[in-house]
Formats: sequence, C-alpha cells, structure tokens
Amino acid sequence: MATHFISLDAISAREFEDLLAVATYLKKRRAQGISEHALAGRNLAMIFEKPSLRTRLSFEVAMSELGGRSLYVRGEEVGMNSREPARDVARVLGRYVQGIMARVFHHQTVVDLARHSGVPVINGLCDRHHPCQALADFLTIREHFGTSAGLRVVFIGDANNVCRSLAQACIHSGSRFVLACPLGYGFTEADKKELGSAWGEQVTEVNDCAKAAAGAHVLYTDVWTSMGQEAERDRRLKAFQGYQISEELLARALPECRIMHCLPAHRGEEITDGAVEHPRSIIFDQAENRLHAQKAVLRLLLADDAAKVISAARS
Ligand code: CP
Ligand code: NVA
Repeated sequence: MATHFISLDAISAREFEDLLAVATYLKKRRAQGISEHALAGRNLAMIFEKPSLRTRLSFEVAMSELGGRSLYVRGEEVGMNSREPARDVARVLGRYVQGIMARVFHHQTVVDLARHSGVPVINGLCDRHHPCQALADFLTIREHFGTSAGLRVVFIGDANNVCRSLAQACIHSGSRFVLACPLGYGFTEADKKELGSAWGEQVTEVNDCAKAAAGAHVLYTDVWTSMGQEAERDRRLKAFQGYQISEELLARALPECRIMHCLPAHRGEEITDGAVEHPRSIIFDQAENRLHAQKAVLRLLLADDAAKVISAARS
C-alpha cells in the first residue's frame, strides 16, 4: 500500500481494489459485532481548515472503532503557513502521532505535510481532491450495482475536488465518467494532463445535462460553490442555472440509475428535494460508507498487518 492517501492518481488500481475489499470486510465485521484493535495505542491528528460533519465524525468513529484515538484541531489554531510553515507543523506532529488527516485550502499543504511529517498523511479534502469521498462512493456503487465496470457515471457541476477524485476512481474501476458543466467550468489543461490517456476516452465533458444523462447509471452532483469559493457565489449561481439533478433529469437516465451527492446538499440549487428523497437516491448510503471506506484507509496505512487484512478481505 502507498504511504499516503492524498489523491487517487497517486495509488494504483490494485491498491484501490484492496481498499474497497478491506472496507467491505470491515463493514461486514462491524455488522457482526466484531471489535477491532489494530490501531490500539495509535493516534491520528486531524487538522480542519474548513468545516465538516461527515469527514470529521466518520474519522473519529473509525479511529475509535479500530482501537485508536483521534485528535481534532482547527486550522485557525494551528495556523499552517501563517503562524508557522506547514513543514514545521508536519515535523512536530510526526513526533507525536502515527498519522495525520488534513482538510485544507491548498493541495500543496497536504503535500508538504506528507513530505515532512514522516508519518502517513490522508487528504480529507483540498481544493483539488477528495479521495476519501470517491472511495466511499465506489464502495456504494459496487454495493448497488454489484460491479462498476462499464457503468456511465455522470457528474453535474463543475470540475471541482469531488469531480476530479470521482473521475480518477472511474479510471481505476473501468467506469465511464462524463462531466456536464457550463462553459468555463470544466477540466483545466492541468486536469487533462493528470487524467492522461483517459481524457477524451473514458473521461469526457459536455455542456448539456440532458445529453449527459441519457444512458446514465449514476447521476452525481455537488454544490455549485465549494468551500473557499464564497466570493464567486453570485456569479456561480447564475452560471449553473439548470445544472441540477431533478426527477425530470432522472427520467432521461437508465431505469436503474441511482442519484448520488457527497453532501452537504443545497436543495433547489444543484439538486431538487424530490431527487434527494427519491427511492433511487443512495445519498445516505454514501454518507454511511465514508466510515467504512476510511476505516480501510486507516487500517492499511497505520496498522502493521496490512498484507494480512488484505488477504483476509480478498479470501
Ligand atoms: N462530504 C463531505 O466531505 O462532508 P463534510 O464536508 O461534512 O465532511
Ligand atoms: N466541493 C465541496 C465538497 C464538500 C464536501 C467543497 O469543497 O466545498
């Protein structure tokens, strides 16, 4: 297993499959009431420069259920790159804890933490990636479809952190990814470079939601304005009108199509209330699976017996 979990393009398809297998295994064991102790005596520092419900609480519960402890600290208090450089924070934390989870504004901050801490670093969302979310999303997709190969996953919104990580998860799993976005909000040249040979083939972009939804197995959306982009909110509200998951859009997709959203959702903007509450919405399964997916990440990065648990999960 890779040392860090920073973005999905930094891990192999095989490692992605290992994580999904271990997540499924740990989820099953939890349902059977089996308690885990693999992280006994281990501590995870969690730095949050932005708000969170799911990421914070699911990591806290995950560490506790694996026998370890989590230490939450607000970004304002730490002052990474203002009170002191991220690399100094990394070197100090690396002497206290066995792992660091960070939700940050700038991707470079996670990279600096990983480079200088000497312990595994997990990206809990940055401006470019949200790998924990995409892992939980694919655990959910697999549970509902049995497979993810050949599925058409359509993302309505902009090429943001959730979108990039979901596209990378599709590349690992043999799904097709289509981004439907207004002009000017699609993948940048840097994104296309990161997507490599998948760009234009497995990963495509259109400006027409209805066209994108045709044949979709999954309709996925996220807020129009991400954390850190608040100054652009008025401009984005105008630009994204119509880029919404509704029951009408769902009617254009395959009959088995599922609705997904990473949450928090802004009903009436990127998604209607009817779509959130629709029988084919699997939004709250996704939220639950954050816990199981992150347990797999913690187990494989912070425990000593990664190979053993992978082999148990795959047998
Ligand atoms: N989806 C997600 O990351 O939720 P939070 O922002 O509440 O952590
Ligand atoms: N794209 C959103 C995801 C929130 C979980 C954001 O960055 O605010």
